Amino acid sequence: MATITTLSEFIMDRQAEFPFASGELSRLLADIGIASKIVNKQVNKAGLQDILGSEGTENVQGETQQKLDVYADVAFINYFKSGGLVCGIGSEENDEYLAFDTEISKRGKYVVLFDPLDGSSNIDVNVSIGTIFSVFRRTSSVGDLANINDFLQPGIDQVAAGYVIYGSSTMLVYTTGHGVNGFTLDPSIGEFCLSHPRMIIPEDGKIFSVNEGNLNDMEESVKEYITHCKAEKYSARYIGSLVSDFHRNLIKGGIYLYPSTKRNPKGKLRLLYECAPLAFIIEQAGGLATDGEKRVMEIRPEELHQRIPFFIGSKKMVEDALKMRKED
Ligand code: AHG
Ligand code: MN
Ligand code: MN
Repeated sequence: MATITTLSEFIMDRQAEFPFASGELSRLLADIGIASKIVNKQVNKAGLQDILGSEGTENVQGETQQKLDVYADVAFINYFKSGGLVCGIGSEENDEYLAFDTEISKRGKYVVLFDPLDGSSNIDVNVSIGTIFSVFRRTSSVGDLANINDFLQPGIDQVAAGYVIYGSSTMLVYTTGHGVNGFTLDPSIGEFCLSHPRMIIPEDGKIFSVNEGNLNDMEESVKEYITHCKAEKYSARYIGSLVSDFHRNLIKGGIYLYPSTKRNPKGKLRLLYECAPLAFIIEQAGGLATDGEKRVMEIRPEELHQRIPFFIGSKKMVEDALKMRKED
C-alpha cells in the first residue's frame, strides 16, 4: 500500500522552513485545516438543512449574505479566536477588522485575512465554492490589541496563504513561500492527504476565464486581449467562483481576468482576501499576478476592503495581456 502523508504530518515535517520556526505557524495552518473540515461538512449537506439561501443581510460591500457565508465566517473566527495564535482577523463578511481581546489572543503573533466562502452565488446550485486565507505576522507589539496596520500589509509580507475548494472533492492548497502543495480530503479517514506535491502552473495555457457579460464595459486593451484569446481558439471557462477558476487554471494553465468595468471601476475582487493570497500562490507556482500596472504582491493596501483589477495565471498569458495594455 502506498504511504500517505497527511496535512498535519507534512506541516510538521516542513516546520524548519517557516520563518521564526516556533511551531506556531504550523499549528495555525493545521487549525485552518480543521476549521475547513467543519465548513466542508456543512457545505456537503447544505441541501438537507435549512442553510441554503440568503441570510437576509448585506455585507459591507452591499452584497447579499448567504447563510453559508455567515456560517463559514463564524466557524473560522471561532477557531482563530480560541486557538491563541491569532490576535485579530479581517474578513470579507465583516465591516471592520476584529481585534481579539482575550489575554491569550492578544499574545497571538499572527493576523489572518480571509474570504470565508468564495463563490457565494454558486452555493445554492451545487457548484464548487471555496475559502481563501492569507496570514501575516502582526506589526504591533505582542500583548497589545491588534490595530489596522497589522492588516494593511502588502502581499510580499505574507507568511502563508492558501485556499480550500469544496468541489467534486475537497482540497486544501497552500504555500509558505517554499512552493505550493495540494491536499485532498479523504472522507473515509477525515484527513487532508498530500495529493498534489510541488504544484507548478504551465508557463503557457489555452484557457481564459472572464465574465464576458461585462465586455462592453471593459477597457479597449482588455477587449483586445479577449479577441486575441478567441483568435487563438483558447477555451473559455468561467465558473464564477474565483477559487474554482483559479484552481483549474493552476493545474491546466490559463489566465483569469477581472478587469475594471463601468460598474466596478476599481475591479471587483478584494486585494486582501482574494487577490494577494492567490498572487502569493501563483508566484510560488511559477505564474504571475498583476492589477494591470503593478505586481499584486507589491500593492500596499490603503483600506481593508480595497478592490483591484486582477489578471492572474500562466506567465506567458499574463505577459501577453499586459503587453496589450502597454501598447494601448
Ligand atoms: P464572493 O462570493 O466571495 O463575493 O466572490 C465572488 C467573486 C469571485 O468568486 C468570482 O470569480 C466573481 O466574484 C464573480 O463575479 P461576477 O459574477 O461579476 O462574474
Ligand atoms: Mn470571493
Ligand atoms: Mn465570499
